[in-house]
Amino acid sequence: MKINRRQLLEFLGASAGLSLMGGGLVSCSTLESWVSGKAFTPLAPTNTDSLALAEGFKSQVLIGWGDPLNSKGELFGFNNDYIQWAPLKNSKSLVMWVNHEYVDPYFASQVESLGERTRSQVQKEMHLVGGSLFKVDAKGSQWDWDRHSIYNRRIDAFTPIPFSNGEKVAGKTKALGTLANCAGGKTPWGHILTCEENYDGFVGEVYFTNSGKRVWDRKKADKYGWSKFFPRPPEHYGWVVEVNPWTGEAVKHTGLGRFAHECATCTVSKSGQLVVYSGDDTEDEHLYKFISDSPTSLKSGKLYVASLEQGRWLPLDLDSDPRLKKKFSSSLEMLIRTREAAKIVGATPLDRPEDIEIHPVSGDVIVALTNNLSRGNSFGSLLKIQEKNSDASSLEFDASTFLSGGEETGFACPDNLAFDSQGDLWFTTDISNKSINKAPYEFMKNNSLFYLPLKGAGAGKAHRVASGPVGSELTGPVFSPDGRTLFLSVQHPGEKSPSYKNPTSHWPDGGNAMPRSAVVQIELPTRLARG
Ligand code: FEO
Ligand code: CA
Ligand code: CA
Repeated sequence: MKINRRQLLEFLGASAGLSLMGGGLVSCSTLESWVSGKAFTPLAPTNTDSLALAEGFKSQVLIGWGDPLNSKGELFGFNNDYIQWAPLKNSKSLVMWVNHEYVDPYFASQVESLGERTRSQVQKEMHLVGGSLFKVDAKGSQWDWDRHSIYNRRIDAFTPIPFSNGEKVAGKTKALGTLANCAGGKTPWGHILTCEENYDGFVGEVYFTNSGKRVWDRKKADKYGWSKFFPRPPEHYGWVVEVNPWTGEAVKHTGLGRFAHECATCTVSKSGQLVVYSGDDTEDEHLYKFISDSPTSLKSGKLYVASLEQGRWLPLDLDSDPRLKKKFSSSLEMLIRTREAAKIVGATPLDRPEDIEIHPVSGDVIVALTNNLSRGNSFGSLLKIQEKNSDASSLEFDASTFLSGGEETGFACPDNLAFDSQGDLWFTTDISNKSINKAPYEFMKNNSLFYLPLKGAGAGKAHRVASGPVGSELTGPVFSPDGRTLFLSVQHPGEKSPSYKNPTSHWPDGGNAMPRSAVVQIELPTRLARG
C-alpha cells in the first residue's frame, strides 16, 4: 500500500485547520503566517563522523555514557534511547528519564571477544542498562544537569522490581532488574513507562510444547553472554515497566502483555478511559492496545491486538474466548505468552511496529513500521490508524499507509516519532549497521532525524534535520516543555567497529577517544521553536 504526496495532502486537509499551541487552539491564519516561506534548508545526506545539523540548528552534549550520576558510584548507562521528563513542583527544572537499551561489551569491557570477560566485567555491564533519572535545569536557552541532585539515580539489571498485583511470574513476585529498555511512554499522572524490547539476547527465551512443557532456549542469550554468570528466567522480561520519576519506584505491569515491547503510548479516550498502544518490534509481529479499567492505574484492563484486514481490535480475553481458554490455564499464562494468543485470535502480521504517536488534534495514531526484510520491504513506512469516531477506546478503525520510505521520499526505516505542539511530526531512522551505506540504502547515508510538517510550506515532505555519527542511530526525540529544545539520543556510535582499539567513530569526544552514546540538546531555530 503506497500513497503519494498529493494523496497525503488531501488526507491532511481534514485536520489542517486547527492545531494545538501551549495547550490551546490557534487559528489557521496564525499557522499560515508561522509557516509561510521555507522553514529551513534540509541537511543533505552525509556519512561524516559527527552529529551534522541543518543550518540554524545548534546542538550540545547534555550527558553521556560513564558520567557519574551520584555519590553512590552510579553511572549514566550505555546506549541511551527513550527520553522523557517530569516536572518538579514550583520549579522550571525537570527530572529526566533516559532508557539504556543494551551495552556493546567490546567497548563497555574493552575486550576483543565476549568470552574474555570476567564475572565482574559482566556485572559492571549489567549496571549500564535499564534507565537513568537525573535533574535538569534551564540555563538561559540551554539545559544542564545537576551533578548533586537527590533525584539522580539508576535502575539497572539488578534492581528488584515487583510485578503488579502481587502476581507470581516464574515463581517470583519480583523480577531482578530491567533490561533491553527501548522506547516508552508517559502516563497521565506523569510516571514513565519504559519498555523491555529485545530481552532474549540477555536472558534467552522460553517456549512451551503442546503438552505445556516449558523449554528454555538459552542459546539466544549468547548475544551478550551475561547468563553464563547471571541466569534469569525469560518470563521476567518483555514487560512494560512503570517508574515514578520522583522516587525511582518501579513496577512491571503484566496486563499490557509480554513481547518485544517497543513503546507504550498513552492517551485518554472520549469517555475518559486510559488507552495504551504498543508495538512488538519483530518481523510479522503485532500492534496492541490496552484499555485500562481505571484512568489512574495500569494494574488491570483488557488487551487487544489489531486485525488490519477486519479493521478491528481483537480482545485477548481468556474468559470469553474458548480458543484461548483451551490453550492457556490462566490469564497470566496467556499474557506471558502474548504472541501465541495474538496468533490464535487472528492478529495481522506487521513490518516491525516500532514507535507510536498520536496526533494532538486529529487523534490519528501513527505507527512506525521499520521494515520487513524477509518480505522484501527494505524501507518501511508510517502506518495511520484512525479510530472510529476518533475515539481511542473504539474497537473499530481504518488503517492506511501514511507515508512510505524509499528514495522518492528520502528516508528509510522510520523508528522513533514525536509530534510537536503544532502537530508536525519529527522522526528518526534505524537502518541496521549491517546495511547502512550499502545497497539499497546508499541514498540515506547515516541514520538521521527528519521533520515532516503536516501543513503549510513543505507539508507532507520529510526534511532532514540531523545526521548521526558513524555507526549510530538517533533515538528518543522529545521536546522541552517550552518547545525550544529537542532532546535526542545518539545511540551506538561506532557500533560494529573492528576493535575497541580501532573504532569507526570517536564521537563525541574526538581525537582517539572511544565513542560514547550520549543525549544531546538541539536548539531549534526561532521560527521552529514549538513553544
Ligand atoms: Fe529498540 Fe525497536 O528499537
Ligand atoms: Ca526503537
Ligand atoms: Ca530501533
